[in-house]
Amino acid sequence: MHHSEFVTGRYARGIGGALVAVALAALAHAMPVASQAPGATAAQAQPPAPPPAPAGYAGSDTCITCHTQGDTLKGTPHGQASNPRSPAAGLGCESCHGPGQAHVDDDAKGHILKFSSMKPAEVSQTCLTCHNRGAHAGWEAGAHAARNLSCTTCHSVHSPKSFAHQLKKETEVATCATCHKTQVIKTERAVTHMPVREGKMSCSSCHNPHGSISNVKALRTGSSVAESCTTCHAEMRGPVLWEHAPVRENCATCHDPHGSSNDRMLTVRMPMLCQRCHVATRHPATIYDNNAITVNKSNRMFGRSCVNCHSNVHGSNHPSGQFFMR
Ligand code: HEC
Ligand code: HEC
Ligand code: HEC
Ligand code: HEC
Ligand code: HEC
Ligand code: HEC
Ligand code: HEC
Ligand code: HEC
Ligand code: HEC
Ligand code: HEC
Repeated sequence: MHHSEFVTGRYARGIGGALVAVALAALAHAMPVASQAPGATAAQAQPPAPPPAPAGYAGSDTCITCHTQGDTLKGTPHGQASNPRSPAAGLGCESCHGPGQAHVDDDAKGHILKFSSMKPAEVSQTCLTCHNRGAHAGWEAGAHAARNLSCTTCHSVHSPKSFAHQLKKETEVATCATCHKTQVIKTERAVTHMPVREGKMSCSSCHNPHGSISNVKALRTGSSVAESCTTCHAEMRGPVLWEHAPVRENCATCHDPHGSSNDRMLTVRMPMLCQRCHVATRHPATIYDNNAITVNKSNRMFGRSCVNCHSNVHGSNHPSGQFFMR
């Protein structure tokens, strides 16, 4: 049982070790196939040996003679030598901290990338050498990068607190809550909300904290708020015969996606919600008809008001659904 998840003990340490490493590196470059061929089948059960460290690199085995951080990588994706994209299959500690031979040789122990004293953009660049595709492609254009957050604002490589994704806080919502209290409090306390506090959804169900290349407000999918919502609420996707303009435009005009104290997460109570725009209807249903609403109890105002009759407020496919009543 060897303790290093990174480098199998291939190098002697010190100056001799460095020479051996350089020689091995040259050898591997010269005949990559030959060095693989003999005994390759017999060795298949073991993780592939990492490539020799280039000049200037000391190798993780050297680092862990003085530092304990090697232990913290065990069992994490960064310590998995079987994944060819992992630091463990590449330059180990030095995939992130940079070439460390000068640091090993330096009595003052400088010459090494120390994340706690790097600029946010420099930290992120280190991580982006591997994490620059897919969900992370939007990082540099996103609001978080623009406001000087870095990968290590939310993540810790050596001492994560979360069960998944190596977050510095125990949960994702707690991570976001350090800065976005308004939205988090709504998902936690609002009367109507989506099942975020029940744990069935999270902020990242809708948002990509790494930024979005296609949508507003770092929304994970689609190219508009409506498209983002209808990835789950497919019945509201449309197109429909009779569109209700604000529904195509932005669901958040009427719904607060983080929750609200009104029925159905509505941003404003009924019937005022509708009356923000429909102040000139032919029936007594406007803010100028207060009496009809509260005193005369117009039949157009009872119960859940407008949607009692205009029940297909998201649009209608009925041939005579122009008033969203069917
Ligand atoms: C001979 C022992 C030794 C070796 C080998 C060694 N380091 Fe260090 N390292 C130190 C000492 C001592 C410090 C200064 C620690 C301090 O000031 O708390 C240090 C500091 C650091 C720091 C900055 C931490 C801080 O709080 O200042 C990092 C990062 C680091 N080393 C990474 C590495 C890596 C990566 C390797 C392998 C390439 C490595 N070290 C090899 C002894 C070593
Ligand atoms: C995937 C990138 C990555 C790898 C691989 C990695 N580190 Fe780190 N290291 C970091 C980050 C980021 C920090 C800042 C604290 C944190 O995130 O936990 C850090 C912090 C440290 C520190 C404390 C000083 C500081 O920079 O804040 C030391 C010492 C250190 N690492 C040593 C090592 C050693 C030794 C290895 C190999 C066994 C290693 N690291 C592998 C990214 C990495
Ligand atoms: C040498 C490549 C490399 C570097 C550099 C690197 N990573 Fe990774 N990281 C990986 C690989 C590989 C995975 C496994 C997932 C995958 O295959 O994409 C991973 C996974 C992760 C995960 C997911 C952990 C989990 O349990 O789900 C986080 C978070 C992460 N890295 C953060 C960072 C941060 C922060 C940095 C910079 C300090 C960094 N990585 C630098 C290669 C790298
Ligand atoms: C604002 C907080 C925050 C910042 C900043 C952040 N992340 Fe994340 N990251 C998360 C959360 C939350 C998750 C889990 C949800 C998800 O996958 O989006 C995650 C997941 C990940 C994962 C695993 C899932 C996947 O998509 O592969 C990786 C890898 C990762 N982040 C890398 C990074 C890197 C690299 C950076 C910097 C460029 C970074 N993160 C910046 C919060 C953040
Ligand atoms: C360290 C503070 C911090 C943390 C932690 C943080 N954010 Fe942010 N977030 C910001 C800042 C600053 C902005 C930019 C606000 C602005 O420009 O008005 C922002 C903007 C946003 C935006 C708007 C994006 C846009 O394009 O307008 C969303 C969505 C967002 N954050 C989601 C999240 C989520 C989800 C999390 C948790 C995974 C999170 N944030 C964690 C600081 C943070
Ligand atoms: C159901 C999808 C959904 C969920 C879940 C969600 N959001 Fe949002 N969020 C949105 C939409 C849509 C917007 C844009 C609203 C708008 O345009 O008025 C938004 C906007 C934001 C903004 C930008 C606010 C502004 O005024 O620019 C932040 C910050 C934010 N959300 C954080 C969070 C956090 C933190 C969580 C988790 C507690 C979360 N969101 C959960 C859909 C969601
Ligand atoms: C990741 C999937 C997902 C996304 C994206 C999503 N929702 Fe939901 N939504 C749900 C789930 C799950 C429920 C709960 C359904 C249930 O309990 O039957 C829900 C419930 C609702 C409700 C009813 C709440 C109530 O109290 O009755 C409304 C309104 C709603 N969503 C609007 C939106 C809007 C607006 C968006 C876009 C900003 C959106 N949803 C995006 C999954 C999603
Ligand atoms: C013009 C305002 C308005 C807009 C815009 C709007 N909604 Fe609604 N939505 C409502 C009203 C009002 C209700 C309550 C209907 C009821 O109680 O019968 C509702 C209810 C819902 C419900 C609860 C389930 C149901 O069928 O009653 C969901 C889910 C929902 N809306 C999703 C969306 C999505 C997704 C969008 C964007 C594509 C959207 N809404 C845009 C006004 C709106
Ligand atoms: C953000 C503004 C806005 C809100 C809020 C809004 N609507 Fe509309 N509504 C419109 C627009 C714009 C039209 C298209 C008007 C047109 O074509 O003359 C429309 C059309 C209609 C029509 C069809 C009218 C016609 O002349 O074809 C009905 C019925 C209607 N809305 C009912 C409602 C109800 C009920 C609510 C509340 C649940 C509501 N609207 C909320 C903007 C809004
Ligand atoms: C009792 C059923 C009923 C209720 C309740 C009702 N309406 Fe109507 N509405 C109708 C009918 C029927 C029409 C068709 C045109 C007409 O007869 O005036 C209509 C037409 C409309 C129109 C399009 C024609 C116009 O007058 O501009 C709008 C907009 C509208 N209603 C909005 C609302 C709003 C907003 C509310 C809530 C404040 C509401 N309605 C409540 C039955 C109702």
